[in-house]
Amino acid sequence: MIEEATNLFRSAFGTEPTHIAQAPGRINLIGEHIDYNDGIVFPAAINLGITAAIAPSPDDQTHLISAQLGPGESFRLPPDFPAPNSWSKYPAATAWAIGAKTPLQIAVNSSLPAAGGGLSSSAALLLATAVAWNEIDKLGHSPTRLAQLCQLGENQYVGVNCGIMDQLASACGIAGHALQIDIPTLQINPVPIPADLSIVILDTGTPRSLAESGYNERRQQCEEACRILGIGTLREANLPLLELILNPTIKKRARHVVTEIERTKKFASALATSDYDQIGSLMVASHASLRDDYEVSTPELDTIVQAAIQSPGCIGARLTGAGFGGAAVALVQTEFLNSFTSETEQIYRSTVKTSDPNVIPVHPSPGASILRI
Ligand code: GLA
Repeated sequence: MIEEATNLFRSAFGTEPTHIAQAPGRINLIGEHIDYNDGIVFPAAINLGITAAIAPSPDDQTHLISAQLGPGESFRLPPDFPAPNSWSKYPAATAWAIGAKTPLQIAVNSSLPAAGGGLSSSAALLLATAVAWNEIDKLGHSPTRLAQLCQLGENQYVGVNCGIMDQLASACGIAGHALQIDIPTLQINPVPIPADLSIVILDTGTPRSLAESGYNERRQQCEEACRILGIGTLREANLPLLELILNPTIKKRARHVVTEIERTKKFASALATSDYDQIGSLMVASHASLRDDYEVSTPELDTIVQAAIQSPGCIGARLTGAGFGGAAVALVQTEFLNSFTSETEQIYRSTVKTSDPNVIPVHPSPGASILRI
């Protein structure tokens, strides 16, 4: 990855990079759509992500090239509104939010499945450029602060109303661990993934659609539930209280949030005691709740989760990230990885004829970092 980004940098800019930045994508084991409800989430940074070769720019603009997406729009600092109309909007959002001073040349390479996979390529791009400016401009921000600034950039500069889970996972990942994060306090509790378990991405090969509008609508429905109940966030709610909500859609959305927060609490102790039956039931219940109450699954995600659950060595599986297409995640006993992979792919292909699945084992990995060359 470093070599690909460096070669791209040389061919695009004709000089040598001075820094390499790396930022991981993430999966989320459980705790979906609850970061913006003051809940608890359980992501892990993964060994797939963004590598960027970087050097200060010879002129007053930041210039960008991506191996996958081609050239990005150049921009001056501080970046103007509206955001660039290309993938450059993410590096520009970082620059805007952290107050970057040095224009850069940036060559980016991604090892994440194609854009739209739901593994947070945008958060990885934000964080890769954030650690670069943090180092080059000597800003001294902590990883958690960088995550907060990147979320601010994505919310206010790009205009996507996301929570903070993806940026925090990409900034603060720890090798071998998933991160149990209490959102109101941003306290991170690293929980080791047992050695005999593998985290496996189940990419449906379908692009995400309506993700942005559907996501924003879900957020508004949660806010509406809080208004009806007279509470600040759904973290304060419980199932009996939800009986006060008459609108069936709003009630279902709130029920997902309340039950998912409970599942995420139980998941941490189940992982700590290697209670695989409990881990599996919680993941399956989380998927069902996202499908039926939150309505963010797709037929392809339902099929790949079902295929995984029927395959050898599977502890549990569920959609990961925002949903509306993209990927699911499974926990699998490592000794069964090969038969798990072939069987899951085969069952999926026999049902879904229009897309090709990709089953990818990943490792929990360290957060974003920068290397001076
Ligand atoms: C997207 C958002 C996150 C989170 C998830 C759903 O990935 O960026 O903040 O809300 O969806 O859990």
